[in-house]
Amino acid sequence: MQFFIDTANIDEIRTASTWGIIDGVTTNPSLIAREGRNLGETIREITTLIDGPISAEVQEAPAEAMVKEAFSFAQIHPNIIIKVPMTFEGIKATKTLSAHGIKTNVTLVFSVPQALMAAKAGATYVSPFIGRIDDFTASERAGSDLVQDIRIAFDNYGIETKIIAASIRHTQHVTQAALAGADVATIPFRVLLDMIEHPLTTKGLAIFRDAAKK
Ligand code: E4P
Repeated sequence: MQFFIDTANIDEIRTASTWGIIDGVTTNPSLIAREGRNLGETIREITTLIDGPISAEVQEAPAEAMVKEAFSFAQIHPNIIIKVPMTFEGIKATKTLSAHGIKTNVTLVFSVPQALMAAKAGATYVSPFIGRIDDFTASERAGSDLVQDIRIAFDNYGIETKIIAASIRHTQHVTQAALAGADVATIPFRVLLDMIEHPLTTKGLAIFRDAAKK
């Protein structure tokens, strides 16, 4: 399973990169806006910190405009993945980008048919948003059930599009994504911290430290 960091915050990416376990980065317009910086400049800086897939999202627009914006992002670095919204125009743009050998991440996926459509258009990745589905359905498993269903559907047909479990809110979502067979989990910085720290580990270390003193 690959771990991407879901942020546009350079300090978070720099810190997480020192752990040596981050495989890629996802950003979105909200995350970019939160940092108050230009998208191109932010993405360029991220490419200097992480050597792996880095998703940059095009603005929702007619397919031709999204493709044009995607070409300009793709020129920044070979690791750039174009994040495209799951819409009719997004599907058209994905198809065109895939024909040009540009990798895509179809985002805002909330159903198996949407994932199949994105894969059919040649998406490199699909991003089901598990946290938002859980919020929407008031269920703790609806998001991971969707990931599992997409996994089964893709495996039934040997579809190579990779599944990114996105919109992760806590470590339990990471567990669920892993059990459901997601290829990647894209994880906010605070959840990455929680994946390493545990109160019982801290407590256990204190006990061992005391024992060592004796
Ligand atoms: C994924 O690529 C998105 O950036 C992200 O996971 C969205 O999550 P949210 O529901 O926390 O906004």
